[in-house]
Amino acid sequence: MALSHNKLKFHVRTYGCQMNVHDTEKVSNLLLHEGWSAAASEEKADLLLINTCSIRDKAEHRLYSDLGLLSDWKKDKTPRVLGVGGCVAQQEGDELLRRFKQVDFVFGTHNLRLVPDLVTAALLGQRKAQIDTNKNPDRFDFPERHPDFEEKTPGRAFVTIMEGCDMFCRFCVVPLTRGREISRGWEAILSEINSLSRKGVVDVTLLGQTVNAYGRHDVKRGVMVKKGTKPFSDLIADIARVEGIKRVRYTSPHPMFFDQGLIDAHGSLPELCPHVHLPLQSGSNHVLELMRRRYDRETFGRLVQKLRESRKDLAITTDLIVGFPGESDLDFEETLEFVRDLRFVDSYSFKYSPRPGTPAKGDPGQVPAEVAQERLERLQALQGDLTLSYHRERIGSRTEVLVTGPSRKGGSQWQGRDPYNRVVNFTRGADEPPVGELVPIRVVEATPHSLIGEAFVPSVGLNERESQ
Ligand code: 5AD
Ligand code: SF4
Repeated sequence: MALSHNKLKFHVRTYGCQMNVHDTEKVSNLLLHEGWSAAASEEKADLLLINTCSIRDKAEHRLYSDLGLLSDWKKDKTPRVLGVGGCVAQQEGDELLRRFKQVDFVFGTHNLRLVPDLVTAALLGQRKAQIDTNKNPDRFDFPERHPDFEEKTPGRAFVTIMEGCDMFCRFCVVPLTRGREISRGWEAILSEINSLSRKGVVDVTLLGQTVNAYGRHDVKRGVMVKKGTKPFSDLIADIARVEGIKRVRYTSPHPMFFDQGLIDAHGSLPELCPHVHLPLQSGSNHVLELMRRRYDRETFGRLVQKLRESRKDLAITTDLIVGFPGESDLDFEETLEFVRDLRFVDSYSFKYSPRPGTPAKGDPGQVPAEVAQERLERLQALQGDLTLSYHRERIGSRTEVLVTGPSRKGGSQWQGRDPYNRVVNFTRGADEPPVGELVPIRVVEATPHSLIGEAFVPSVGLNERESQ
């Protein structure tokens, strides 16, 4: 039923990964096309969506504490609608409606396109949970960006190329909340990127839970042409050729799915950024096997070496879990040693968190919380040293940043991201730096979390300026 939403405003709270951030963009864009407008704040919103994360228990609990506080938000004005989406929604479904009377509807990870209908139903007093799985790649199809769509980072965009995961690592809830691997046809991907480029996007990040597994089931079944997919490295090469696209990234790959084509692409495609986020999880073969990661440290080490041979300045970052059931002191020492050997530029490290429905939840050998905490602190201290020494190696080098805006520190400092995905704070020149565009920078200082640089005046040759 068509209702007029002309005066109604929405807001979305987003937790979790980049896929969730992008799902929020998709739903927001859809609502704009339906006549809604973005609220300046939650207080001004008639519709509030919470896009949830379930990767660790802390993220899930955040939803429950949010919902407690939102009872009052619901009562302050009528009609007000509250919807819950994302991984916790997929996991809990109807249970959320039963436990929380303030929730009007629940939408699963495959049902973003149903949000406008669910809101309309809610405005008519119907409470629904829609968490069916959808195996049709048309679930990736969304309208083009609405003129009122506000990009978080101008010049940069996420593009979904596959979703879901068939790897079933024993700690991970994602295969249960995002479903089976499904790849989107390359024509739809390229058409979206062409349209983004016409709107000024220069930097695209290809998204998928195991992004480099793109199309692998279609190859195995001999149906690549029929399904409209192609080898991942060929897709990257096509994207790099799109006019106006200057940077291509992908996240997150699985170490098992780096074929020679993808390794070579890092050496041959200037648009492919010299950064790979390559989740290791543990440096101990014993723990990797318990986790069912399907590689050992030797295979992982060889992959890192091949990638660095292909592109010698490649920045590799990783994810690590400490305190997985069965991880001994010795296993953890092996992780420390391996992280030191591989010299990751950065890492995200987490204490293992048991997740509903995952096999590791009931494993023997659960590690006491204080032991896991101590391991986490030691790992993060080591990573801090490695990151700072990488930043120091960069002093004096030239790079190019995508300008994101004035630095939060204020003053004449501006901020951007370089191709290695490092944050660079830089002193602006006489002109205001163009947000969403690429500007040349020289790195002059290193801090633990970012680089400090100076903008070049484009009319002054880099060498000329450097010799001053
Ligand atoms: N506990 C802790 N960390 C986890 N991750 C995934 N599942 C869990 C869990 N149950 C981490 C992994 C993954 C990242 C996105 O989150 O390191 O790569
Ligand atoms: Fe989770 Fe493993 Fe799939 Fe990554 S590869 S989403 S860690 S199951």
